[in-house]
Amino acid sequence: MDFSGNHILSIDQFDRSDIDKLFSVADKLEPYASKQKITRVLEGAILGNMFFEPSTRTRISFGASFNLLGGNVREITEVGSSSLAKGESLADTAQVLSGYSDIIVMRHPEEGSVKKFAEASRVPVINGGDGSNEHPSQALLDLYTIEKELSQNNKSLDGLRIALVGDLKYGRAVHSLCKVLSLYSKVTMNLISPEELKLPIKILNQLKASGINVIQTENLEEGISEVDIIYVTRVQEERYTNKEDANRYRGLLSLNQSIYTANCEPNTVIMHPLPRDSRSDANELDTDLYENPNLAIFRQADNGVVIRMALFSLVLGIENKIEESSKSVNWKVGLNN
Ligand code: CP
Repeated sequence: MDFSGNHILSIDQFDRSDIDKLFSVADKLEPYASKQKITRVLEGAILGNMFFEPSTRTRISFGASFNLLGGNVREITEVGSSSLAKGESLADTAQVLSGYSDIIVMRHPEEGSVKKFAEASRVPVINGGDGSNEHPSQALLDLYTIEKELSQNNKSLDGLRIALVGDLKYGRAVHSLCKVLSLYSKVTMNLISPEELKLPIKILNQLKASGINVIQTENLEEGISEVDIIYVTRVQEERYTNKEDANRYRGLLSLNQSIYTANCEPNTVIMHPLPRDSRSDANELDTDLYENPNLAIFRQADNGVVIRMALFSLVLGIENKIEESSKSVNWKVGLNN
């Protein structure tokens, strides 16, 4: 794929060489993401960060990534604060906002909305999540995290054994992750969900066609034994028209330390795209997992910054210019021990 000057709308755009290129730029950017160095390579550039649906990680990490590359960020954080609320079309909004920005990240509750917006945009658009369809940058940071965590145990993405747990029907992070994992060989995927929340058949067929060994079960204990990664997701209650339906599934698949100890291999890594539902009737990842060194959820969230920096670098074509404006940081980073 030619990243430069192009939209990033679906994980289907990526092949293995694109992923390798992205991860190699991310590795180069690690000193900047961890604030050992500063770069001003995007000085003067403007990101339009358009979030028409709630977000903590995706919005802030895209914004922080752009700032860390030296650029400025302008934001919309809800439909009600934009002129979409007055009946303006997505196409007109795209025409206007692309006149004010060098690149746009957009999240919207409707499937396909970001693609529609991109068709009218004069600058590259990155999909920050469109309804229950896709969340490509989440899949990329998840894959980066899986690769890093596996490398601690001398394992690689080829041969990965992963359990995906929870709302596989509406979870866009799961949909994009499944698609990107179909690029790797000898992958085993245990899909653990209530019957009604199974992975959409179209994605299931894509997995099978790519040679992934898929096992579907409703039993958490059975599904999480003999895997390298457990990837837990919450019930996506914002996608349910009837909240009673979401309530029926909440708390059915909760992982805690005793279930982990009884069923998992010693190095099985626990991931979650977050937010996790920490209310007592859901508690999909119990607080007693905090002491578990294999709980990678915050390392995973941290990786969102470096992966999004790498995406901006490639799409804006500055991946080889980062060092030119490199400096050391002037302030103290982090807390004293
Ligand atoms: N993982 C994720 O998309 O989180 P936010 O909804 O907080 O952006």
